[in-house]
Amino acid sequence: MSSGLILGIESSCDETAAAVVERGARTLSSVVASQIATHLRYGGVVPELASREHLRAIVRVVRAALAAAGVKLADLDAIAGTSGPGLAGALLVGITYAKALAFAQGLPLIAVNHLEGHIHAVLLQERQALSSMSNGEASVELPDTQALALVVSGGHTHLYLAQPGDGSWHYSLIGRTLDDAAGEAYDKVAKLLGLGYPGGPWIDALARFGDPHAVPFAFAQIKSKAHLGGKPPRTKAATTAPIATLDPRFLFSFSGIKTAVLRYVELHSLRAEATARIPRMLAVARLPQTKDEALALCPQSTLDLIASFQHAVVGDLMKKTFAAAESLDAERILVTGGVAANRELRDRFTAEATRQGIQIAFPTLALSTDNAAMIAAAAWPRFVAGQFAEPELSANPSLALS
Ligand code: KG4
Ligand code: ZN
Repeated sequence: MSSGLILGIESSCDETAAAVVERGARTLSSVVASQIATHLRYGGVVPELASREHLRAIVRVVRAALAAAGVKLADLDAIAGTSGPGLAGALLVGITYAKALAFAQGLPLIAVNHLEGHIHAVLLQERQALSSMSNGEASVELPDTQALALVVSGGHTHLYLAQPGDGSWHYSLIGRTLDDAAGEAYDKVAKLLGLGYPGGPWIDALARFGDPHAVPFAFAQIKSKAHLGGKPPRTKAATTAPIATLDPRFLFSFSGIKTAVLRYVELHSLRAEATARIPRMLAVARLPQTKDEALALCPQSTLDLIASFQHAVVGDLMKKTFAAAESLDAERILVTGGVAANRELRDRFTAEATRQGIQIAFPTLALSTDNAAMIAAAAWPRFVAGQFAEPELSANPSLALS
């Protein structure tokens, strides 16, 4: 009988990660090497630097994951790597290394879509909880049920209907952003306010001390899809289904709110005030915990702006996700990806789900942002179903999940 051990490798953006997961249900190790310090001074990920940092870290990170799990390469059943979507050069480092290891060890290679990985971060956690309740019986089966999954990160804002079937999972795209991802809006707004990178955790921390109703940001309803027919989405992320096939009620757009924040900042001269107080290298410092610490960084008017921005973004994500759940009769919602770490998002989604009697699940904070445990977990059903990658597998920066 197989040991069920899969080594996952993730390098799609700015985190080099490796993890060993048993049967998609028990994390033996999960190592993440962040490149934040490298990209900090640019206020965003620089693709060439990301590839270089992945090359520097990959061997060390994989060895650390194996050592922490107490397993050798020979103990593994398969090696899984993120094949897309993401940055081409960054993806290639992980995929090439995964291929080389698999070839050298005579192990099967499993290609995992990064977005599928984010969805499995939640499923892994649920299986983990279940297996700990049944005294570590890792083979315990979770009654997998279909779920509406909101993947909301720095590169994606996608709604999928995830359905188990034939031993594997199937995904139908329900909605997506037409332009920026929600996390991208967080990062851009944080950058224009002179906050640290990545911006999400800063906005999350500061928003608690502002008035969410101070600035009435509004999201326009996305109009009929006729004019979008055949047009590719204006995003550097996955080129998935043509937008025209999607219900406009489930389409997102976050570039407008970013511009609205910029206009507000210019109009109220907040930028100079905020940037004067906030040193650029702040992201290495501790996030503010108290109102006094927040006020030491920005004036109340900036805190109000930040709280209003977050309130509007979370409100829009909620409105469309719950509308899609209702239209699909989904009894379960999974929210995953870096932005799913957001406190206000978790609180408001949970309250609404409780009100509507819908189940809701999030990954732990560590599993919300990029990691390789989710890649190894997503690979498990593919391993069981014998869905292995061809030797000519390469990175696909715009890989679709459907
Ligand atoms: O999933 P992830 O690590 O990488 C991608 O696949 O993009 O997500 C990173 C994104 C960044 O945009 C970051 O600002 C955002 O997730 N993020 C947050 C929070 N923590 C990370 N956004 C809002 N609130 C947070 N607490
Ligand atoms: Zn991600």
